[in-house]
Amino acid sequence: MRTFAKGNQRPSVLFELVYGRVLQLKFFNTTMNILLLGSGGREHALAWKMLQSSKTTKLFVAPGNAGTAAIATNVPLDILDFNAVKNLALQEKIDMVVVGPEDPLVAGIHDFFLNDDLLKQIAVIGPQKAAAQLEGSKEFAKQFLIRHQIPTAAYQSFNASTIEKGYQFLETLKPPYVLKADGLAAGKGVVILNDLNEAKTELKRMLVDAKFGAASTKVVIEEFLAGIELSCFVLTDGKHYKILPTAKDYKRIGEGDTGLNTGGMGAISPVPFATPEFLSKIEERIVKPTINGLLKDQLPYKGFIFIGLIKSGSDPKVIEYNVRMGDPETEVVLPRLKNDLVAVFQAIANQTLNEINIEIDDRAAATVMMVSGGYPEDYEKGKEITGLELVTDSIPFHAAAILKDGKVVTSGGRVLAMTSYGNTYDEAIKKSYQNIEKLHFDKMYYRKDIGFDL
Ligand code: AMP
Ligand code: GLY
Repeated sequence: MRTFAKGNQRPSVLFELVYGRVLQLKFFNTTMNILLLGSGGREHALAWKMLQSSKTTKLFVAPGNAGTAAIATNVPLDILDFNAVKNLALQEKIDMVVVGPEDPLVAGIHDFFLNDDLLKQIAVIGPQKAAAQLEGSKEFAKQFLIRHQIPTAAYQSFNASTIEKGYQFLETLKPPYVLKADGLAAGKGVVILNDLNEAKTELKRMLVDAKFGAASTKVVIEEFLAGIELSCFVLTDGKHYKILPTAKDYKRIGEGDTGLNTGGMGAISPVPFATPEFLSKIEERIVKPTINGLLKDQLPYKGFIFIGLIKSGSDPKVIEYNVRMGDPETEVVLPRLKNDLVAVFQAIANQTLNEINIEIDDRAAATVMMVSGGYPEDYEKGKEITGLELVTDSIPFHAAAILKDGKVVTSGGRVLAMTSYGNTYDEAIKKSYQNIEKLHFDKMYYRKDIGFDL
């Protein structure tokens, strides 16, 4: 029930006057102004979910997209310009900042808020810089995994001065060879090759020719793990954790999982092969040691942990950590979360996540990404999207769609994520396809086989 209509004076004003913002942060029994950073389908889904909460007074999205513009207030700014974020937060009396993508976290936005007297009472959802290295550096993540005995592929890391040792290490491995640029490389930093000589050449390209710029001054080479992938999403307040529904993402551009890697072409939740037995292995062997490891290593973490897993035989192994939600996984995970997400975020800020009981919708959810023709290589932007008003029984989350001259136009590779519920994931996927057929933009492409392997 919404106790205070939007736009009414915030009930926290009196509280603030009497007790000040420190106490407000502790008790938070009030509605809030929230700033969400990011502009993808993940952020549209986060905005959609947070606006279902009676605790949200005003929601600002920076920079947002056409989807968030329809439900919240978009503010055009560079989210890596922390002073611009600060000005907005002060101007709009923001109580909580929710960080969608990894870049501001790896660059230390949470620490920036904590270190500023005017900002430090504002809750930030997302890990501090030291913990965000779990995504910001593959070598850091591997060291963390090994230190805490969390199952993962064997690895070694190399730089330009140890490249000869890198060649020797490759010779000890069986193909395929997995090479990972250490730093953030916009999802493109992992290269998997079957041929030893090609792997050596690639190693040289990364280390010596700076193929991924500064991100590949170090390269992690690891054992190839065969198996089927899935993702596990965890919320933590730094002390306690809650596990969200699993999801499976379809990363390749082509049907049958062929062609180039993308940010994700579709997703389903729950993952049918994640049986209770398998989920309990994930929790015991991976989630618990991860949370304990963060505590032991004093890595401050309040936010989402996205654990990329591979089912190798009957055992889960970690492929990667991300310090944010996945996109398009968010577009299937959040629709299945019954809780008030803002209340959950407040519990994270207050380190009372243990008091929250996570409730999940029994229905399955599926999402299918509609992308610009040519993606993930060159593609055109600015194409008008038509038919959105015809969508029924699905949620078209906007990813790279912006408003221009009153029209919704494409602004990037992954344009829209069509999410649907179903009693089975098959039913959900079908609904998404039925609605996609009502939409049009020039050179629109989508995979017609999401869920094909299940
Ligand atoms: P990442 O950017 O770390 O998610 O890696 C991109 C993709 O590369 C993953 O989704 C996997 O499909 C694949 N991958 C990464 N590491 C391995 C590995 N050790 N064995 C097999 N596949 C891997
Ligand atoms: N869909 C994969 C990711 O968000 O990294």
